[in-house]
Amino acid sequence: MQIGCPTEIKPQEFRVGITPNAAQEAVAHGHSVLIQKGAGVGAGFTDADYTAAGARIVDTAAEVFASADMIVKVKEPQAVERAMLRPEQLLFTYLHLAPDPDQTHDLLKSGATCIAYETVTDPRGGLPLLAPMSEVAGRLAPQVGAYSLQKANGGRGVLMGGVPGVGPAKVAVIGGGVVGTFAARVAAGMGADVTVLDRSLPRMRYLDDTFGTMFKTRYASAGNTAELVAEADMVIGAVLIPGAAAPKLVSRAQLSTMKPGAVIVDVAIDQGGCFETSRATTHQDPIYEVDGIVHYCVANMPGAVARTSTLALGNATLPFMLALADKGWRKACSDDPHLAQGLNVHAGQLTNAPVAEALNLTAITPEAAIAS
Ligand SMILES: NC(=O)c1ccc[n+]([C@@H]2O[C@H](COP(=O)([O-])OP(=O)(O)OC[C@H]3O[C@@H](n4cnc5c(N)ncnc54)[C@H](O)[C@@H]3O)[C@@H](O)[C@H]2O)c1
Repeated sequence: MQIGCPTEIKPQEFRVGITPNAAQEAVAHGHSVLIQKGAGVGAGFTDADYTAAGARIVDTAAEVFASADMIVKVKEPQAVERAMLRPEQLLFTYLHLAPDPDQTHDLLKSGATCIAYETVTDPRGGLPLLAPMSEVAGRLAPQVGAYSLQKANGGRGVLMGGVPGVGPAKVAVIGGGVVGTFAARVAAGMGADVTVLDRSLPRMRYLDDTFGTMFKTRYASAGNTAELVAEADMVIGAVLIPGAAAPKLVSRAQLSTMKPGAVIVDVAIDQGGCFETSRATTHQDPIYEVDGIVHYCVANMPGAVARTSTLALGNATLPFMLALADKGWRKACSDDPHLAQGLNVHAGQLTNAPVAEALNLTAITPEAAIAS
């Protein structure tokens, strides 16, 4: 198979869909790999790295789209990219179609088969191609929060770990899933006094069994949340109700109960955020203040560490990319029902029921698409 990887063109996106290591494995499996010139630069990979891995460099995205049987990317295709997709072509990338009717319309029109990273599942009910980015954002949250706590950035001027004779920062993490667990581990590792709030007792049992006294857990009742938010130097929002907008767990009125200069890092901002006062920000202008509380609400946090994020995403996508290339999408998806869950569009039809429901359209099943 010809596998193609264009340069990402979404603003501020520095990741790349295929790493040199992934290219090398694909070549070892007998495939050819086309990389657009400069595609890896933002993540620290040169064209020479790809050439050494056995890939071929081409100048333009148009050349990649014209020759590749499968396009592997990071972000959803932009309008100019969608216009280059062809029937029989396979697209493997993040799509997030539910809130995006324009993209959905264009992908349906293209006739291509589109597999979305975010809906591929695993046997434990997880989302294996979304988890690496939650791990990155979780680990990043205390890091950006600690920076925001510094006086020059509007924060309280509190050091995460304190020093001998001076207590540490208090950190409340709301939501103890992937983001929350990684955030709590890093914050505790920095020496902070950390409490994770969640509504799932099995999840809190798991955290308690696994991490012992590294951080505390509290049930996320409104009362407990209000108490911990008022005491905290830093609050990290990490809740998720799959498929739904994030619940607003901290009101604007509650900001007045917080310490002046305390920091909110709302990682759940990509689902609307779990603080009433959250609004999405960018890496250029990440922080703003409401009622004396510093807010960090960057919607694509992993972009800040494009190299780590590219490597983490590449580790997760590689086995699926190889299966798709080795077997073709039909056999790969019929052999692996979890990969089949990633099918979102095939030959002008939606193949994912929740996406169809969100957009008021109809869908066929992935099985029907595989059999067609
Ligand atoms: N901003 C970014 O760059 C970025 C990057 C990655 C992930 N995210 C977002 O971070 C959020 C968390 O992702 P995740 O992978 O950790 O999800 P997850 O499903 O692993 O964890 C979510 C946790 O929230 C808990 N929860 C749900 N409702 C709650 C409530 N009312 N109170 C307390 N806890 C509650 C759940 O029990 C679960 O443990 C998502 O919105 C995700 O999209 C954002």
